[in-house]
Amino acid sequence: MCKDAIVFNNKPKGVRLEAGVEYHICSCGRSESGIFCDGSHKGTSCLPKAVTVEKTKPYLICLCKTSKFFPFCDGNHSYYKDDEVKKGIKFQD
Ligand code: FES
Repeated sequence: MCKDAIVFNNKPKGVRLEAGVEYHICSCGRSESGIFCDGSHKGTSCLPKAVTVEKTKPYLICLCKTSKFFPFCDGNHSYYKDDEVKKGIKFQD
């Protein structure tokens, strides 16, 4: 996880990913969608996470940006209340 990340949302989002396609998932929480990198991490220490899946299906994408299995949800979003959204993350590695 990126120490400069902010919580995009306190719930994950189901996103259909296509097998064999390389996606760049936003790790900073500052992109417009919160899901895909759009370059908004510029000026932070965050970089997008490249991911390629083997099966085409919906995946739960982490929007709190603190999952141990980033970019996939591990339930850490439950530690964030609504008023902590768009603020700095609490978990660091
Ligand atoms: S915009 Fe968030 S990692 Fe690029």
